[in-house]
Amino acid sequence: MYEPKSKANLKSLTHPLGTTIDRFILQRQNEFPHATGELSQLLRDIVLASKIISREINRAGLSGIEGLTDEENVQGEKQRMLDVIADVRFIRALVNGQQVCAILSEEREGIIETGRNEAKYVIAIDPLDGSSNIDVNVSVGTIFSIYKRVSEVGGPFSDKDFLQPGINQVAAGYILYGSSTMLVYTTGYGVNGFTYEPSLGEYFLSHQNIIQPEWGDYYSINEKQKDSFPKNIRAFLKSCKKKDMNTRYVGSLVGDFHRNLLKGGIYLYPSTQKYESGKLRLVYECNALALIAEQANGMAINGSERILEIQPEWHHQRVPFYAGSKQLIMNLQAF
Ligand code: AHG
Ligand code: MN
Ligand code: MN
Repeated sequence: MYEPKSKANLKSLTHPLGTTIDRFILQRQNEFPHATGELSQLLRDIVLASKIISREINRAGLSGIEGLTDEENVQGEKQRMLDVIADVRFIRALVNGQQVCAILSEEREGIIETGRNEAKYVIAIDPLDGSSNIDVNVSVGTIFSIYKRVSEVGGPFSDKDFLQPGINQVAAGYILYGSSTMLVYTTGYGVNGFTYEPSLGEYFLSHQNIIQPEWGDYYSINEKQKDSFPKNIRAFLKSCKKKDMNTRYVGSLVGDFHRNLLKGGIYLYPSTQKYESGKLRLVYECNALALIAEQANGMAINGSERILEIQPEWHHQRVPFYAGSKQLIMNLQAF
């Protein structure tokens, strides 16, 4: 057996940096005596789908899968080929994994039944977020929210399974396909980030217990329609400029959110003339990021309410979304 020469050596051997996501998920599962392993398996299914999508995205320029399809999704937005590919890959992995009875995807109007009525979870996903960035090799993402169903296990799913406030999420997270691929998730006990090592095909724990800085220097917003922003948002933006804060906006929610999570900052998508209730979708975009924000000591609101407490009325409902560092959101609330 290998015997470490010194304590320092032993410390380096047990460093969390060597932890694969599989091991991490298992360790967490073992901390709950009644855990059945179903949520762990579901998380592993997401991990698998993310690896496949990461590969597709990396080769997008070579395999001719950039660009638009002839189709529109339920929101009347042009679908890109990769939107469709990511949607199919995720659904396939989730159906094969058998841990959810139903799936809600941004790309489909209706809910997908998996045929596994014994499963106790449902999942809502934005399979590819920020897809307009694909053609120009800029970061995109995936967002997911997992809920325990409110319908009876063993029977068919109910629409209400997806109309639960975000506070009920059992787990949520995102994958950022950036300069490296990262998966960030929470099960309600802090936020952890994993970086993908493609040559090994493994995610490794790289960002343990992420805490968002209380303040931040960045504000992220598309100011194109600023004349139609609510008055108080315009006033808040003025105050950001006065404080010499920096603008950073990629146009991929996951990318913008992730930067602000690590560096400190605020993301804003208010109501505009074009999008009267904001552009972002509550059930499969905002709720997941709101849970991550709160778990990392940040905040997420729609202006007046905590995102996680909003009762969804429709699966594809949009909400104004403000998320980020606690003090910046509190500042915003003061306006
Ligand atoms: P999606 O690609 O899933 O439709 O989401 C796009 C979203 C989000 O990622 C981004 O922050 C926002 O749209 C950008 O909107 P604008 O182009 O209006 O800034
Ligand atoms: Mn999106
Ligand atoms: Mn999308």
